[in-house]
Amino acid sequence: MVQGTETGTRVIRLAWPDVGPEELAALAEVLASGFLTMGPKVQEFEAALARACHTEHAVAVSSGTAALHLAVLALGIGEGDEVIVPAYTFPATANAVALAGARPVLVDVDPETMNVDPGRVYDAVTPDTRAVMAVHLFGRPLDWEALQSAVPPDVALVEDAAGALGARWRGMPCGGLGMLGCLSFHPRKIVTTGEGGAVTTSDDALAGAVRRLRHHGIAPRGDFEIPVPSTNYRLSDLHCAIGITQLARLRELLAARRRVAEAYNERLQGIVQTPSADEGDEHGWQAYIVQLGDRDDALAALRAEGIEAQIGTYALHRLGAFHDQGPFPGADRCFERALALPLHSRLTEEDIELVCGALTRLVS
Ligand SMILES: Cc1ncc(COP(=O)(O)O)c(C=O)c1O
Repeated sequence: MVQGTETGTRVIRLAWPDVGPEELAALAEVLASGFLTMGPKVQEFEAALARACHTEHAVAVSSGTAALHLAVLALGIGEGDEVIVPAYTFPATANAVALAGARPVLVDVDPETMNVDPGRVYDAVTPDTRAVMAVHLFGRPLDWEALQSAVPPDVALVEDAAGALGARWRGMPCGGLGMLGCLSFHPRKIVTTGEGGAVTTSDDALAGAVRRLRHHGIAPRGDFEIPVPSTNYRLSDLHCAIGITQLARLRELLAARRRVAEAYNERLQGIVQTPSADEGDEHGWQAYIVQLGDRDDALAALRAEGIEAQIGTYALHRLGAFHDQGPFPGADRCFERALALPLHSRLTEEDIELVCGALTRLVS
């Protein structure tokens, strides 16, 4: 069924967070408990996240961006350091590096996978390279083996798994592959808490550093010492209670996205360039992104028909903040051609048919 907006216009929405009575009940329980932050739900959510990512630790923070920022800071990365970042990604991946005082070194992506090209990562490594921000873009697992062999062992791989909770690379969960993993729980992500994020790691010292840094830099020694100043990136128990419920439903949430993605794939193959994962991997379907010429016209036309479409994400070298690097033809190609179609569990067969019909008419 086509969903209406508040104004009554018929619209097929881009995203619709899959939250309902279970999340509401979890919220009510926290409100009644009197523990609104740094209480038991934070620990419970963290334990569930660590289990899902096969890591020793997970630290809940206020957003995916906060997770990326703290991951970089926990590694001690700062002025004079270089961090490799895909040229096509959400800007937070590079902002986190710049905010830590280090230099984001952009590397082009493979326009087919839209993920960073490991061969180009190899070429970009210098003696100042401290880390790679390894993005599983839109939930498509990055070729982890190729990336690992592209960098020396002392270069940390930080997973930007903002959209990849539940995705698997050769059976292993994204968010648990790198030295640190960064998750986002924004409403367009697979698991949502409204706003929220987490850092995962199996390194005790890094987990301790992230915990301190999310809470003003306060060392948990009982002497009120702050060795390094920091900020407040905590996530409340209200958010975590929603997250616990969402995570318990992870398989169901993933299956609901897969149903829509497979239906789109079936109808759109050969009409536009459709997304996929490598053989043996499991896509998380954070977003369903096709590629086509005349993307801007298609975007405008779909919107005019009440179908909420969106661009894929950003080509960083086209932004004022990161314009001094390039050229990046792979990122340009993705930026100009990528189109996000509505993807959420409320989409009906009729909605999917409408979206595919509209897109097919536009390109033929
Ligand atoms: C690849 C990527 N990294 C980081 C983020 C930032 O996450 P958040 O919005 O939770 O700060 C996003 C959000 O869209 C993202 O897509």
